[in-house]
Amino acid sequence: MDKKFYITTPIYYPSAKPHMGHAYSSIIADFFARFKRMDGFDVQFLTGTDEHGLKIQRSAEKQNIDPLEFCNQISQTFRDLSKTLNLTNTDFIRTTEDRHKKTVQHLWKELEKNDDIYLSKYSGWYSVSDEAFYNEDEIEDVDGLKRSISSRSTVEWIEEESYFFRLSKWEKPLLDYYETHPNFISPETRKNEVISFVKSGLKDLSISRKSFSWGINVPGNNDHVIYVWLDALTNYISALNYPDTNNVLFKNFWPASVHLIGKDILRFHAVYWPAFLLAAKIDLPLKVYGHGWILSGDEKMSKSKGNILDPIEIINEYGLDPLRYYLIKEVSFGNDGNISQERLEDCINSDLANNFGNLCQRVTAFAIKNCNSEVPNDIKFEKEDLIILDKYKNNLKIIRDKIDNQDINFYIDFIINSLFEANKYFNDQEPWKKKEDPIRLNTIVYTTLEIVRKISFLLFPIIPQSSLRALKIFDLKEDNINLSSVENNEYLLKGSKINKIDILFKKIEKNND
Ligand code: MSP
Repeated sequence: MDKKFYITTPIYYPSAKPHMGHAYSSIIADFFARFKRMDGFDVQFLTGTDEHGLKIQRSAEKQNIDPLEFCNQISQTFRDLSKTLNLTNTDFIRTTEDRHKKTVQHLWKELEKNDDIYLSKYSGWYSVSDEAFYNEDEIEDVDGLKRSISSRSTVEWIEEESYFFRLSKWEKPLLDYYETHPNFISPETRKNEVISFVKSGLKDLSISRKSFSWGINVPGNNDHVIYVWLDALTNYISALNYPDTNNVLFKNFWPASVHLIGKDILRFHAVYWPAFLLAAKIDLPLKVYGHGWILSGDEKMSKSKGNILDPIEIINEYGLDPLRYYLIKEVSFGNDGNISQERLEDCINSDLANNFGNLCQRVTAFAIKNCNSEVPNDIKFEKEDLIILDKYKNNLKIIRDKIDNQDINFYIDFIINSLFEANKYFNDQEPWKKKEDPIRLNTIVYTTLEIVRKISFLLFPIIPQSSLRALKIFDLKEDNINLSSVENNEYLLKGSKINKIDILFKKIEKNND
């Protein structure tokens, strides 16, 4: 298969249990992975946990547990969450695995060989929570505490011997790269932030720490551990067995199609990571997409703010697919979005139950009663049928292009409009008044069933379980789902059986007091 697609989520810090922000990155990545797979791509989808560094070491110390034991426990909760979210990741990497450590040390040696590393002394501000160094102008004094202006995490002063990466040397090559690869950083606003950051001047980057030990040793100097971001970013290639560049995984899937990340970690992915790769003479990923935050109230969720939303609680109350649908539809992709129980319930009631669920129920019930529980045989499309059916064929290229530009908003709007149109079509055509004209009645039913089939295929990347439940109407399974077939107006086998299905989404009783 020559169509390859490699998507990655950030690897998560297992410093605390997963929250909605983590679930969001993962669900969006899963949406793209499923979409590409149903479009015939061979998909590699990577997620995992970022287990080294002072943040994890301190979290483990607080609980009096050995850091690896601590990571084993929490990493497992992230692995479990992947299952709970019905993710189709093809790998789950932990930075404490040998395969990863080997790659990181190899990359270090490459950078050293190319004269991109030197030993010196670091003194400056460091945020353990962000695992990031900040300049004086990036911090502020709040109630006697120094904090990062961007993340508001507290910073501490560090002074120690450190290896440095010659980041300054890559300032011009990076700017050239952004210029010649205008889609490398998305969305556009984020690209501008990165470019102005790089233009303001890049200082060499401290890439080792001496004052703690929880990390990967610097090759040839066991007094130092490698900076956790250099360690973590490398996961994207260690999972493809780099430095073995001839193995199928690396050959097929590098460079990555998209690194999907939150906007807070853009600098690491759009500046440091490409600089490391340029220095090591490795191709750069095709795209870094920085999505917005899930807000709780008006603030980004975080453990320190105590405003964490637990995805598991929402899933237990409403089910997984409603949550996936909500996050994909209501959080305008690229921007920040709020989680609100009320909006979630509205999505379930109006879009999922009324629009999609009802359409499925109405047309199957009608076909069972009036078409002998079969996909009608004798049909003759009229203009109004073809207008609604051809819409999918006419939009397929646009849909593919939009998805390649991560325009999920277009995709979901297309589906919602299609659902409205389908319901309207069925109402306007009034098949119940066509009992005297069986061909017309059959054609209306066939057309509506085809639309249910097409929309269920399109919904598969968003709400996979519900889409499959809807497709039981036709005995269609996951293997049958492919994007190209939404062009086909006569995919459904005439005369095949129509099955009654259970209610897809239960409406939520709303208390209006
Ligand atoms: N370990 C680093 C990433 C290393 S990638 C080589 C890290 N981990 S994290 O657990 O703190 O965050 C992981 C991802 O979750 C980031 O993309 C971050 O933006 C995202 N989210 C964390 N909180 C979030 C929200 N409240 N909303 C949306 N996503 C946010 O950073």
